[in-house]
Amino acid sequence: MIILGIETSCDDTGIALIEYDRQKKCRILSNIISSQIEVHAPYGGVVPNLAARAHLKNIKPVLEEALKKANYPKIDLIAVTKEPGLIPCLLVGINFAKALAYNWSIPIIETNHIKGHIYANWLNNSNIEFPILSLVVSGGHTQLVLMKSHKDFKILGETRDDAVGEAFDKVAKLLGLGYPGGPMISQRALKGNSIAFNLPRPMIKNKDYDFSFSGLKTAVLYEIKSKKEKLSEKYINDMAASFQQAAIDVLISKTIKAANEFKIKTIILAGGVAANSELRKQMEEKIKKDLSNIKFQMPEIKLCTDNGAMIAMAAVYELEKNIKK
Ligand code: KG4
Ligand code: ZN
Repeated sequence: MIILGIETSCDDTGIALIEYDRQKKCRILSNIISSQIEVHAPYGGVVPNLAARAHLKNIKPVLEEALKKANYPKIDLIAVTKEPGLIPCLLVGINFAKALAYNWSIPIIETNHIKGHIYANWLNNSNIEFPILSLVVSGGHTQLVLMKSHKDFKILGETRDDAVGEAFDKVAKLLGLGYPGGPMISQRALKGNSIAFNLPRPMIKNKDYDFSFSGLKTAVLYEIKSKKEKLSEKYINDMAASFQQAAIDVLISKTIKAANEFKIKTIILAGGVAANSELRKQMEEKIKKDLSNIKFQMPEIKLCTDNGAMIAMAAVYELEKNIKK
């Protein structure tokens, strides 16, 4: 079966073609992403109406490139992101998908964006055993999700204010690093000292699985404000590293606690912040050290941020779920 996946929920126009066979082996035939960084960079964040216009402009060339790269296969199903996301942006993708489905007389499945991020883990053909604990870390969400099966999802906890990716973006802005902030912070952190600043680890000791990142961002703001002179390169690198480590400490600590409580067999990472090399490394090391019987799985770095392949993969499982009903 060949599935065309369309993603337009935020600032990336993504279209992919994946092949999925009866042995449940998956192959990505093409995965084209048109980023809008240049459109939004002057504003320091995503402007929804500008994003929608850019999707409108880019979606057809992105489709043409995806089809060409995959050698124009016969498509069986279209998958498109339905929610959550920026409404004007989502509408571009959904309308485009509906027009294609009508024109090609093939079915369409509307998928959830967060499930898309989670299912990016199935694009690697790895062996993932239930129950699964998924740490979803994106620009809009921070959640710990317990999956007992493909049909049984439960949110154990989520952020009460900012998402962790949002905090990375805001701290980058405070440090004058521009947009998008996550990758900038992670690059600067490589050169910085992660214990240079003593920042809070919000809610790390709480019994529940909720998160909070706005206090951490405010702590960075106050620290920067207390500095009278222009921020030095060393200061920026040290602050990036200290902030990143504070966020990672909370994410890892809550994940390990939930994995123990719910007798998890596999821990997976999902979402744009899962591209963070330090989070990937430290989570892997911690699981190896403290939970050696638990498997750990993360998407390839380029499949962590928004893309069409993850949406196509989520649709495969959505379809299977419905067939078996
Ligand atoms: O999942 P995603 O592409 O879009 C949403 O669904 O939100 O995530 C985007 C978020 C942004 O906040 C971005 O700064 C963050 O992921 N991000 C990173 C890294 N790459 C992207 N955060 C930390 N380190 C990175 N390497
Ligand atoms: Zn996303």
